[in-house]
Amino acid sequence: MYCTKKITEDLFWVGGNDRRLAMFEGVYSVPDGVSYNSYVLLDKATVLFDTVDKAVCKVFLENIAHVLGDRKLDYLVVQHMEPDHSESLAAVLALHPETIVVCNAKSIALIQQFFDIDIAGRSLIVEEGSTLNTGKHELMFLSAPMVHWPEVMTTYDKTDKILFSADAFGSFGALNGAIFADEVDFDRDYMDEARRYYANITGKYGPQVQTMLKKVLFVELAMICPLHGFVWRGNIAGFIEKYQKWSTYTPEETGVMIAYASVYGNTANAAEILACRLRDKGVKTAVYDVSVTPVSAVVAAAFRWSHFVFASTTYNAGIFVCMEELLRDLAAHNIQNRTVAFIENGSWAATSGELMRKIIAPLKNMTLIDATVRLKSALKDSQSQEIDLLVSEILARIDRA
Ligand code: FEO
Repeated sequence: MYCTKKITEDLFWVGGNDRRLAMFEGVYSVPDGVSYNSYVLLDKATVLFDTVDKAVCKVFLENIAHVLGDRKLDYLVVQHMEPDHSESLAAVLALHPETIVVCNAKSIALIQQFFDIDIAGRSLIVEEGSTLNTGKHELMFLSAPMVHWPEVMTTYDKTDKILFSADAFGSFGALNGAIFADEVDFDRDYMDEARRYYANITGKYGPQVQTMLKKVLFVELAMICPLHGFVWRGNIAGFIEKYQKWSTYTPEETGVMIAYASVYGNTANAAEILACRLRDKGVKTAVYDVSVTPVSAVVAAAFRWSHFVFASTTYNAGIFVCMEELLRDLAAHNIQNRTVAFIENGSWAATSGELMRKIIAPLKNMTLIDATVRLKSALKDSQSQEIDLLVSEILARIDRA
């Protein structure tokens, strides 16, 4: 049975929701599920924008059949070839032998890599700024390389001012019956997952996201239709402003993210004491135990906060494993423009402080606070002043900022 949503008089969502997926891309937990969005435009010619993951292929094909009725499918626009948006491509083309695939040359190569199908006689290769007239609508194709793969392109419907944005402006989280972001309390219920999606999926590619933003900000935008999450029609400017901050690695908020790795609770204790004293001084804090909180959530928090403190015990003569994973992931996602301090613990031969510093120091425009707070097994009363000194150092840098 079909499950579609009407977006405009002639545009329909035909995607699907997956609430059983444990790990998106095999690495990101999605406790609230994920949606794979696809859209059908019913103009003089009919157009399908992207396909979906195999997990929701059955309902997707039923959705297309319902929206098309007895019409044929003229075009399939392929904006992104990552399998969560292309795994059902072969099924669509088999059911609709008349359909022309509209994509760029990079996507042609990826289609041949992923599938054993020949689309040579049924493809329309488009380039930057190419247009396709479907009757009432004129579609313009704008490349968005590395947002999040090299072949990615977006499509701007010049008639209805709608941007089909591929992975950009997407979010983790299945759709709960709604389709528009303004139908839900997005800031309260979905923004954290939108940030986690951005930071982990495209966070590494800030300059490329900036290039994409510069293109789309030249056009009038009535709506944004991403490949995951809600469609944007209200407060588009507010969400674009988030993208401006995230893609320039500008903190959203002034405050301290404290991430700690603690085996027996002593490093955790130091982190909690630090958080309390920062709060006492009026500084916002967010504390994460990296053994418990998924790395993807801490990476997302890092895109939000201005100052970081990493606290880790020494383990196997190095950084505790979960903390090392976090720091390397932050480096891989190009986090920059932050102030960072460190707390190390080691009952003998402590190394974690220096090793953490070595991972963070090469990142762009990071201010590292010189003094590392050093614990030998546990924080002692005699070290209270060291915590106060760290608070003072952080406060001084917040004031300067
Ligand atoms: Fe949702 Fe890059 O795929």
